[in-house]
Formats: sequence, C-alpha cells, structure tokens
Amino acid sequence: MPPRRSLCIFEIIFVIVLATTNGSLVIGDPSGCKFPAIYNFGDSNSDTGANSAAFTQVPAPYGETFFKKPFKRLSDGRLIIDIIAEKLGMPYLNAYLDSIGTSFRHGANFAAAGSSILPGPFSPFDLAAQMSQFSQFKSRTAELYCNSSSSASDGTIPNPDDFSKALYTFDIGQSDLTLAFQNRTPPRVIISTFPGILDRLSQSLQQLYGEGARAFWIHNTGPIGCLPLMAFQFRFRGGTLDSNGCVGFMNDVAQEFNRQLKGSVAQLRAQLPLAKLTYVDIYSSKLELIINAKSQGFANPLDNCCGTFLPYVVMCGTSMQLNGTTIHGSSCSDPSTRISWDGIHYTEAANLWVASRILNGSFSDPPVPISGACP
Ligand SMILES: *[C@@H]1O[C@H](CO)[C@@H](O)[C@H](O)[C@H]1NC(C)=O
Ligand SMILES: *[C@@H]1O[C@H](CO)[C@@H](O)[C@H](O)[C@H]1NC(C)=O
Ligand SMILES: *[C@@H]1O[C@H](CO)[C@@H](O)[C@H](O)[C@H]1NC(C)=O
Repeated sequence: MPPRRSLCIFEIIFVIVLATTNGSLVIGDPSGCKFPAIYNFGDSNSDTGANSAAFTQVPAPYGETFFKKPFKRLSDGRLIIDIIAEKLGMPYLNAYLDSIGTSFRHGANFAAAGSSILPGPFSPFDLAAQMSQFSQFKSRTAELYCNSSSSASDGTIPNPDDFSKALYTFDIGQSDLTLAFQNRTPPRVIISTFPGILDRLSQSLQQLYGEGARAFWIHNTGPIGCLPLMAFQFRFRGGTLDSNGCVGFMNDVAQEFNRQLKGSVAQLRAQLPLAKLTYVDIYSSKLELIINAKSQGFANPLDNCCGTFLPYVVMCGTSMQLNGTTIHGSSCSDPSTRISWDGIHYTEAANLWVASRILNGSFSDPPVPISGACP
C-alpha cells in the first residue's frame, strides 16, 4: 500500500468540480456564513441522544409536544441546538454515541446530560471526554473518507474539508455549578474554582483551533437559581426566594461565572486571531423570559409542566407507589404555556422564545446573528 497522502481522490475531484462549476472557492457570502456542519459540546441543555444511547432511554412523556414520542432529549420537544440546526438549514444533530440510524454528514453532537467542564459525578462525559471523542471522530473521518467506497458515498460521514468551515457550539458549565450548590459549597469558594474551570474550557477551544476550527458560538450559563427544582429545594430548607421567584445567590454565582467566561472569550480573541468567537448571553434572555412570563403568555415560571415536587417529589416520567396507589410524574395539559418542562429543563415553547432572541444577535457579543458567526 502506498503511504497516505493528505489529499485523497474524493477531495481532489470535489475541488475540481467546485472550481469549474462555481468559478470561485468558498469566498464568504457577505450576507451570511455557509456552515456545512455543526459540532456541539455541552450538557442536557443540548444533549440530542448521548445519554439516551449510553445509558437509559428518555421515558414518556418527554418529547410529546414535537416528536410525539420520547426522543432522546430532556424536553417536551426541540432544544435550542435543534432550532439552531433548523435556522442554518441542517438536519438535527445526531449524538456521536448514538449508533442506530444516525448520520454525521452535517456534524455531530458530543453533549451529554449531566456533563460538566471539569470531571464530575453526574456524567462520565466531561468536556475532556467530549474533546477526545471529537478528535477520534475527526481522525477516523479522515481515514474512512479517503479509503472507503461506502461511508463517504452513503453520506454518513462529513467531508474532511468541512471541519474548518463548521460552526463549533458550546453550552456547558451549568453542571459544574449544580454540583457545587448541591455540596453546599459557600459562594466565595465556588467562585474561587472558576479560573480553573474556565482554563479547561479555553484549552479545549485552543485545541479545536489548532485542529482548524474557526467559528465558535459560546452560550453562557443560565439563571440556575430560577430552575423550579432549585427554588423548591431552597425553600424547603427555609430559604427565601428573590422578587423574581429565584434563588438569588445562585444567580449571583452564575453571573460571576458568566463575567469570567466573557473575559476568557475576550482573551481567546487575542490568542486566536483567525477565529470568530461569539459569546451569547443565554442568562439574560432566559431571565427576561422569566421576569416577563405573564406578558409573554406563560404561566408562573416556578410551575413546571411535568412531574411534581409537592407534597411528594415525583420526577417527570417516573412513578411512585404510595399506600398501594401509583402516583405518576405526568405532564400538564398545555406545555406551550410553561417555561419549565420538568423543573430542570426548559419546554420547547421556552426554547423557541429564547432561540428567537439569541439567534438574531440581540444577546451576542459581538452582536452578530448566528448566520454571521464565521470569520
Ligand atoms: C482501507 O481499505 C482496505 C481495503 O478495503 C482495508 O483493508 C483497510 O483496512 C481500510 N483501512 C481503513 C483505515 O479503514
Ligand atoms: C399511608 O398509610 C398510612 C397508614 O395507614 C398513613 O398513616 C399515611 O398517612 C398514608 N399516606 C398517604 C399519603 O395517604
Ligand atoms: C431579535 O428578535 C427579537 C424577537 O423577535 C426582537 O425583539 C429583537 O428586536 C430582534 N433583534 C435584532 C437585533 O434584530
């Protein structure tokens, strides 16, 4: 066998075809970026199948609103990452770990529920694990694309050229905070861990840049103190909620995390001159929805649709035996009027509301819409 060359025959043909039919090679359309793929890293806010594939399938009534069946996501319907895929004209992202009926032609999703930036107890797929999966995915793609007559032609793996033109999205960090809150770590101690956490995130972005990634879309972390489960637990222990019905100190910690994250992104802009890094203020968009719930047509933001916390905790999709009676964590009659689906994850209605605000750039730094988030 001859030694591997860096360009394979498929790529050479592709380049010639492009050059002859188009006349120009990938000179950015000024009105928007042409992302051929999305690579996503994160937790349950953007997990489209990792946990479901690796561990246990998500139960009913998850998925009931949009997919009409449980569909690998911890919501009643689409997540923000699904709405991003739609917006960019791509199919929904498949989880890298999902081996059945999946295609990675337009990218892959490494996000897994419970994943934190640093190794944590909720998921083995912390950011370093997700990065390792990405590296394997990319190197295997290069081998298979050039070698195989099947994988490349049946369209299940991406063109290796697409890695440098893809959009790299991040929504991770909430689980690092959740763990600290659960351990009752004092806020100032939690905050002292942020530089280490954010260093790991920066290293990952630098590694991707080193592998050719250029367009990064980075969500900050949401108002975690406004999640109904957090608010319920805090009140149960005798705490008082703030005027928005949220756990004030948790939101303060989240905001400090976001302030430092924004600083890290600014530093990376100086270190990675060919990259376009967009910082997206998910926190403010979600808080705006929560504060204006009523005028936006939503019920009390503390009322999750699926599962109950009082008088007994019965999580969404589970059931509990009580004196011979079964109590189900079932869903409300109209999820479209709720912000929280299960006390931790947002409904599709809330995800659509937030996505419509963030994708047009009104919560971005710099203020570009997602279709303009390329260098
Ligand atoms: C490439 O194809 C050859 C012949 O089909 C096969 O023997 C070899 O294992 C393949 N290499 C990879 C990396 O898939
Ligand atoms: C269950 O039965 C016990 C004993 O009869 C009773 O004390 C308790 O209140 C019952 N619990 C509920 C939730 O009905
Ligand atoms: C983005 O969309 C929201 C909601 O549709 C709208 O209120 C806002 O003005 C838009 N912002 C920009 C910059 O277009």
